[in-house]
Amino acid sequence: MTTCDECGFTYDLATAEHAGAAIVDGVADVASALLAPGADPSRRRRADTWSPLEYGCHLRDVLLVQRERVLEARRAVTPGFSPMGRDERVEHDGYADQDPGDVTRQLGDAAALFANVLARLGPGDWDRTVLYNYPQPAERPLRWVAVHTVHEVVHHTLDVRRQQTVPVGGRIPTPVEIRPAEPADLPALTAIQNALIGSTTYEWTETPYTVSGRQSWLADRRGAGDPVLVAVDGDEVVGFAAYSDFRDTQRWPGYRFTVEHSVHVAASHQGAGIGRALLRALADHARQAGKRVMVAAMDSSNTGSIAFHARLGFVEVARMPGVGEKWGHRLDLVLMQLELGDDSRC
Ligand SMILES: CC(C)(COP(=O)(O)OP(=O)(O)OC[C@H]1O[C@@H](n2cnc3c(N)ncnc32)[C@H](O)[C@@H]1OP(=O)(O)O)[C@@H](O)C(=O)NCCC(=O)NCCS
Repeated sequence: MTTCDECGFTYDLATAEHAGAAIVDGVADVASALLAPGADPSRRRRADTWSPLEYGCHLRDVLLVQRERVLEARRAVTPGFSPMGRDERVEHDGYADQDPGDVTRQLGDAAALFANVLARLGPGDWDRTVLYNYPQPAERPLRWVAVHTVHEVVHHTLDVRRQQTVPVGGRIPTPVEIRPAEPADLPALTAIQNALIGSTTYEWTETPYTVSGRQSWLADRRGAGDPVLVAVDGDEVVGFAAYSDFRDTQRWPGYRFTVEHSVHVAASHQGAGIGRALLRALADHARQAGKRVMVAAMDSSNTGSIAFHARLGFVEVARMPGVGEKWGHRLDLVLMQLELGDDSRC
């Protein structure tokens, strides 16, 4: 299985039939970056690197081109394609002059259009082949084309985020304070955790958390000596992270050196290094507590979280198909792990 060194995306062809949903979810991240308050999405941080707006235009065009390629593969045997002309389009189509609101809308439409042609592939269609030029010329099944297009979305989300958060020559230091959670933080923490329950399958529950439920949870975590950390911007809680035993160490003491964590950052504060700061603090706590391995478990459609963890040195170790369920759909679990002995990235 191939993994992208830069964004951590893994080409797992078994996930091809979920590609449409992952692409629709993924472009929502890029769209929100283009409309982020206070940012100028058309500004290039470096003269030789596209702006968020240009990446957004490119991603829209990639999705439209990929749609045509999939449709062509249904009417021809192993068609070949001319390159899309990614660099020429920036000038020919005036990417820098386009309206971010229009591009946001078009991105959503392009993702939905592409997802629709994928949804209409029959069981035999996924193995139809095309001649694909990238990364080197090869005959590829449509499964690969679908997964490769998810990679395009994940990778360009990373490109956009880098343009937002990293100035020329260095990283913007995180402005937030990381400290242990207090009961007074729980209303904000609960709101952050609940924010995506109704719109995504990232949390495998349909029932929002309650502040009183989180009070018992915090008391339990404190009693067990496990950390619950919050990120605070001024006096606003904008993220949290926690870990506890990976599996029941009373029954199976052999798991006592391994923990599983969760990390959440408010949408308004994502892309500013807060998730990284929280996970670094959590990893330091785990090292001091003598832990050896941290595990992240996420829904396979949560490509942003997969890319985030890969950037911090986590390695994908397993995919478990169909082990979850939400809204009547079976869901796949991705497991990633970090060896705490290697503290170079997290
Ligand atoms: C995943 C999450 C915690 C990341 O937090 P964040 O504060 O936005 O991330 P950071 O700004 O610290 O990013 C750290 C690195 O990960 C990368 N990254 C973060 N989110 C990414 C995304 N959606 N796609 C690609 N890369 C991403 C950043 O570009 C950065 O890389 P860099 O080293 O090149 O600068 C946050 O998006 C979130 O809370 N998501 C919703 C809840 C969730 O999915 N939690 C994880 C459940 S397992």
